[in-house]
Amino acid sequence: MIEKFLNNIHQGDCLELLKQIPDDSVDMTFADPPFNLKKGYKSYKDGLAIQEYVEWCEKWIAEMVRITKPSGTIYLHNIPKWLTYYASFLNKVADFKHWISWDAPTMPMGKTLQPSHYGILCYAKDAKKLKFYEIRAPHKRDRKSKYLSKDYGGKKAGLHPFGSLLSDVWTDIHRVKHNKYRDDHPCQLPIHLLERVILMSTDENDIVLDPFNGTGTTAIAAKRLGRQYIGLELDKEYVEITKNKLEQEKSNSKLGDSWVSYYLDNIVTLRDKDWENLKKHFYIPQKPEDIDFQQIILTSKLDISVPLKSGHNDTDNLQKLFEPKEDYKKNN
Ligand SMILES: C[S@@+](CC[C@H](N)C(=O)[O-])C[C@H]1O[C@@H](n2cnc3c(N)ncnc32)[C@H](O)[C@@H]1O
Repeated sequence: MIEKFLNNIHQGDCLELLKQIPDDSVDMTFADPPFNLKKGYKSYKDGLAIQEYVEWCEKWIAEMVRITKPSGTIYLHNIPKWLTYYASFLNKVADFKHWISWDAPTMPMGKTLQPSHYGILCYAKDAKKLKFYEIRAPHKRDRKSKYLSKDYGGKKAGLHPFGSLLSDVWTDIHRVKHNKYRDDHPCQLPIHLLERVILMSTDENDIVLDPFNGTGTTAIAAKRLGRQYIGLELDKEYVEITKNKLEQEKSNSKLGDSWVSYYLDNIVTLRDKDWENLKKHFYIPQKPEDIDFQQIILTSKLDISVPLKSGHNDTDNLQKLFEPKEDYKKNN
């Protein structure tokens, strides 16, 4: 029964469509519903009374839990206000795992405690059966000097060359700001945000379902990572935009044999368990403490053919990339 839904975007009310999906059939569900903030969607009026909004949300959240496999994960993205209601409902029917805070600042608007993060709730259908992978993101660095933002003091020799295991505060993924990257839709999530949660919770060919497809961020992320997808969306135009975009996408977000998430041409998320296979694709300084001032580099980005052809020693040439700047030498 699930087959007719796979790898397609379905137009309609998600509450009706979800009823047709069998119990325990999807590996991951991710919902980014309207936030009840009177946004200008084409087919949906985004302004319900609080009680009405909460009751509506509880209906589709219950459906998300029902269709998720016992090993699966349920993600809900919203502003903290609504997540407090979601959590108190979900605590009765699923197992709390994480409250991820996604720091996505806007311009200051002359208000103290202006909301500048979104929450992503992560629940296991059954914590004992949950499928979950540790993930790493690149170390945070100062924009200009490129040194690590965090002072690891005497522990630098233990630095992971790529980056640390992610905490539940995500500050490295920005909202889609430029119009050239946006569709005609008021709230569009960045694809690499979805790729990150998909890498945490699913394997190749697993099924990812989004009941509020919008213009298809979840489906595109799933396709790029070789997963199967199901998108549900009320608005015909958003469905069309998504289908057109999906046609252009390929399932090839890989480095070697491992699925990874890229932003521009840099890897922004990888699985810890894949590192042993992935490290051969990077030029890594010999001394782990040198990671403090030099980011590792994908070998595909280094033009080492020129020095090799002209008979120079390429390792000497590359090593120059890892020499600290003079002010670093003075201060360390
Ligand atoms: C916040 S947006 C999702 C954006 C999406 N995450 C993206 O990145 O493109 C919410 C979407 O839910 C859709 N929607 C609202 N009510 C719906 C319903 N009952 N069933 C399905 N979709 C609905 C709206 O049309 C809107 O596109």
